[in-house]
Amino acid sequence: MKRKILVTGGAGFIGVNLVAELLRQPDNYVIAYDNLSRSGVENNLRWLQALNRPNFEFVRGDVRDYKKVKQVISGVDLVYHLAAQVAVTSSVAQPLEDFMTNATGTLYLLEACRQASPQVIFVFSSTNKVYGELADLKLIEGKTRYRCSGNFRGIDENRNLDFHSPYGCSKGTADQYVRDYHRIYGLKTVVFRQSCIYGPHQFGNEDQGWVAHFIIRAIRNEEIVIYGDGKQVRDVLEVSDLLKAYHLAVRKIKKCAGEIYNIGGGIENTFSLMELLSFLEKEFKKEIRYEFSNWRPGDQKIFVSDNTKLINELGWKPILSRERGVKKLIAWMKKYLK
Ligand SMILES: NC(=O)c1ccc[n+]([C@@H]2O[C@H](COP(=O)([O-])OP(=O)(O)OC[C@H]3O[C@@H](n4cnc5c(N)ncnc54)[C@H](O)[C@@H]3O)[C@@H](O)[C@H]2O)c1
Repeated sequence: MKRKILVTGGAGFIGVNLVAELLRQPDNYVIAYDNLSRSGVENNLRWLQALNRPNFEFVRGDVRDYKKVKQVISGVDLVYHLAAQVAVTSSVAQPLEDFMTNATGTLYLLEACRQASPQVIFVFSSTNKVYGELADLKLIEGKTRYRCSGNFRGIDENRNLDFHSPYGCSKGTADQYVRDYHRIYGLKTVVFRQSCIYGPHQFGNEDQGWVAHFIIRAIRNEEIVIYGDGKQVRDVLEVSDLLKAYHLAVRKIKKCAGEIYNIGGGIENTFSLMELLSFLEKEFKKEIRYEFSNWRPGDQKIFVSDNTKLINELGWKPILSRERGVKKLIAWMKKYLK
């Protein structure tokens, strides 16, 4: 019998990579549910449709539409909930819309599962933004980046939650509901608090998806605006490594139902904004134009995920180094933008 899988946000960057991978197994029947509100993702949908897989269905729908959510959830075995309003900047401009999609939309999905498909496995993409600004970290300012004093290995799941920005609040609310639906109703849920994810099919812009955004601007010879001093540090993870963790969680659901995992490139795979710019200048063999602007709210000076729990409990390990991953994305983007 086919496994029926729902991927919300299935036309988005992570969604399209996930759906394409799931479709390779003929035993999977995959429904991508997306309202196509993110600019550029209609290209992802066309690409998926062009794969011509008989086990693929697209439903244009909104997670804020409870009636439709209930319809689409019926008979589903596995849910990957990725649909979201993803930009901190837009959340500041329109907090109600942000909350409705990220928090209420997630609750609709959970409740629909509880009512109609309580046996489902529910994987949720949360964010490292639930840990806030991390203003207490003792930072040392270097030439190209901030560093943490001492033997800093990253932020683990025991860190206090500190929702900062409407996006942080709405995703954090969803994150806690997803976990609680396991505690209260026994739903088999898993939460991934993701750092910066990058890779093919990412239409990064100034508001979200900075690695792809820098690459697109560099290819087009357009200026990049650096908010803050550019020394802020992020751990970066290529999307194929994220998907490995999703699959492991599903395979080992008995062990990890109700769990929360931080996931990112970890301490070995970090870039500051200025360092990524230098790396790209070497790769493109040209100067990239940029200018500085004010810091944005909630922008962490450093975020590095401590992946120890995920490694120990699920046996996950990222494979692509930051250099190989970024080169892979440059190659994809050059072909795509041709
Ligand atoms: N990419 C990252 O670096 C990153 C980091 C942390 C967390 N996340 C989370 O991962 C998930 C996927 O992110 P992504 O990078 O693929 O973003 P994305 O913007 O490419 O994908 C999100 C998709 O959701 C759809 N969508 C938005 N509002 C919707 C609604 N109301 N109803 C139905 N569909 C809607 C969009 O059209 C888009 O296709 C999000 O939940 C995001 O918060 C991403």
